[in-house]
Amino acid sequence: MSDRPVTTTSSSVSGEPLPAFPQTVAVQPALDIPPGFDSFSPPTHRGSTVVFRNLAELRAHGDRETTYWRYGLHATPTSEALCQHLALIEGASHTLLLPSGLAAISLVYFALLKAGDDVLVPHNVYGPNRDHGEWLARDFGITVRYYDPMIGAGIADLIRAETRLIWMEAPGSVTMEVPDSEAIIAAARSRGVVTAIDNTWSAGVYFRPFDKGIDISVQALTKYQSGGSDVLMGAVLWRDDSLGQRLRQARARMGWGVSADDCYLVLRSLPSMPVRLAAHDRAAREIAEWLAQRPEVSRVLHPALPECPGHEFWRRDFSGASGLFAIVLRERYARAQVDAFVEGLQRFAIGWSWGGARSLAVPYHVQTMRPAGSWPPAGWEDAGELVRLYIGLEDPRDLIADLKAAMERHLAGA
Ligand SMILES: Cc1ncc(COP(=O)(O)O)c(C=O)c1O
Repeated sequence: MSDRPVTTTSSSVSGEPLPAFPQTVAVQPALDIPPGFDSFSPPTHRGSTVVFRNLAELRAHGDRETTYWRYGLHATPTSEALCQHLALIEGASHTLLLPSGLAAISLVYFALLKAGDDVLVPHNVYGPNRDHGEWLARDFGITVRYYDPMIGAGIADLIRAETRLIWMEAPGSVTMEVPDSEAIIAAARSRGVVTAIDNTWSAGVYFRPFDKGIDISVQALTKYQSGGSDVLMGAVLWRDDSLGQRLRQARARMGWGVSADDCYLVLRSLPSMPVRLAAHDRAAREIAEWLAQRPEVSRVLHPALPECPGHEFWRRDFSGASGLFAIVLRERYARAQVDAFVEGLQRFAIGWSWGGARSLAVPYHVQTMRPAGSWPPAGWEDAGELVRLYIGLEDPRDLIADLKAAMERHLAGA
């Protein structure tokens, strides 16, 4: 250890050089980084401690004019850049980032509901959202009721004095029904009920919830916004700030923050997102149309195809489709055979979380996921097992060849 101070630290208040021993210099070096570096990539600000120049600043924290930054958990310039970028894409005014899409869903529930309140959720909502609702109903004294996603204006009959929130998902998970969101919003507005949508499928690009009058949009940034199948993050977005205080407060109380490195990864992917989405859309439609001609397939549930429930609302409300859809195979194929078909695919990985470059396939036994008797819907002849397909960025000709080979091998001759 040196016994003589060296003068290479600077005072945190005045910036003047101060004498210091090497151990202090290692902690408080006086660096001289030239200004003027500029690049396209946003800086990654990692930080828990936010440093104030004086106590007046510390005490004024939270005031945008004086000291906006307060604590790394709540916001950093990197998370703020991502918040603003996402809001601009979706037409929102405000964004909160959460550690996953599911945490974003959870935030909406906890910010808006208390014991005694009632919430309406569509049957085809993302499974863990349904489970979240059931937990609130069981343990938190909140009434959660499920509605047919094609209910449209009929939702008015379900709204009670205690109803505080109506969830929508467009299209719904797995079975892909597109709701008449205009009718649901009109009914909710006339009774002062808040509407929230899980808008992950359109990534906020193909469906503009705030222009329609929806109050809150939830995005699983884990999907298209990150685009690399390697980040978990969610967002809650809104336009009218009357709800903002409750959402911000709930997030702060829960202590939900996100890492600056993950924000950086999402920021890095956002500029290419619309171009990626267009490629997913093109390939998925080509494959969906090919599948619609196959004798093994009873129905293709792709919002851009007329046989998908709610296709007319997709045409009215959406400017494109994305890469996720489902097929219903003919009734004659047993579950084991459908499993063999999925496992026989060589270019489709088996996995849940879509939005990346790789194509995916997962079989679902929908009868166990919906109210008894509601699946398959009345009038659907010859409806068997469902397979959800996510079309990545491979050449669709290779994916079609793969689907054809697996169908001929595992679904032929039944
Ligand atoms: C429609 C939808 N919403 C939300 C989520 C949740 O996202 P995360 O995996 O980031 O929790 C998913 C994930 O699969 C999803 O498909």
